[in-house]
Amino acid sequence: MNGKVKTIWITGANGQVGSELRKLATFYPKYNFLFTTREDVPIHDAALVEKFLFHNPVDVCINAAAYTAVDLAEKEREQAMLVNATAPGYLASACYLHNVRLIHISTDYVFDGNGKVPYLEDDAVDPVNFYGQTKLIGEQEVLRLHLQSIVVRTSWVYSTFGKNFVKTIYKLIKERKEISVVNDQFGCPTYAADLANALLLIAITDNAPPGIYHYCNKGIISWYDFAEAICTLSNSSCVVFPIATSHYPTPAKRPAFSALNTEKIKKTFHLSIPDWKQSLKICLQDIVQ
Ligand SMILES: NC(=O)c1ccc[n+]([C@@H]2O[C@H](COP(=O)([O-])OP(=O)(O)OC[C@H]3O[C@@H](n4cnc5c(N)ncnc54)[C@H](OP(=O)(O)O)[C@@H]3O)[C@@H](O)[C@H]2O)c1
Repeated sequence: MNGKVKTIWITGANGQVGSELRKLATFYPKYNFLFTTREDVPIHDAALVEKFLFHNPVDVCINAAAYTAVDLAEKEREQAMLVNATAPGYLASACYLHNVRLIHISTDYVFDGNGKVPYLEDDAVDPVNFYGQTKLIGEQEVLRLHLQSIVVRTSWVYSTFGKNFVKTIYKLIKERKEISVVNDQFGCPTYAADLANALLLIAITDNAPPGIYHYCNKGIISWYDFAEAICTLSNSSCVVFPIATSHYPTPAKRPAFSALNTEKIKKTFHLSIPDWKQSLKICLQDIVQ
């Protein structure tokens, strides 16, 4: 790869992470970028994935495509399994065949949430919901079929794009005088723009060590803390009440604690990770505009 312009293929280009990668790509003029949406290359179609790599000289693929509707996945099991578990296997096989480095995104929901300290990459996995199960199989398939792959687990992703907690809360606090948010689930928010930055850094690093890495913003908070901060930073007078998960039942169970330890990615790629509140502030400035 040395001396030649690297081509980076990004799947799921219309998603939160895909869109942030698209924005960031403009700051990397020395690289070629190929962005594909679900319509361009549905990753669950092995033949189309293979055809794309046959016709395009790709060096690195960042798979930002996924089935991310956590609650709906409990019902739409076949579709969630196809996109999150089977399709990454197709990508890994095709990437292996065409000597393409694969960077695949996974989730904190592979853990059972009974931990008390941030999860390490090799901690035991045991998802508590179906989405987590599909994502776990997906990352296992990727690492099994293409040994040089990199899996980046992340958590609580938000951005100005798509649907996410920050946009939902921002809308609610404009409409209501009070809201209730669960205060007994803890994790680390991740601004998709920060994650995109880390993913591109990995993509352009020659001989990046394969395996699993954790990436999220710095700091561990509850969804209630997150909502409170959104309120404060938006100068909203809406009151946020803390409630227990038992008072907010959802079709899919959530892990109670899913904070990720990010030491490995920081050390390996000499990466500095922003604090969650700093990043939230930046994202909110864009949302408010
Ligand atoms: N969001 C979170 O809180 C969170 C937390 C932890 C990990 N992650 C992981 O982070 C990654 C990126 O998540 P995100 O928040 O950016 O997700 P997102 O906004 O839902 O974007 C996913 C994208 O994948 C596309 N897609 C769905 N099925 C596809 C298929 N069969 N072929 C090709 N594209 C397909 C979607 O297309 P359409 O736009 O047409 O639907 C969408 O643009 C995923 O791997 C996710 O599991 C997310």
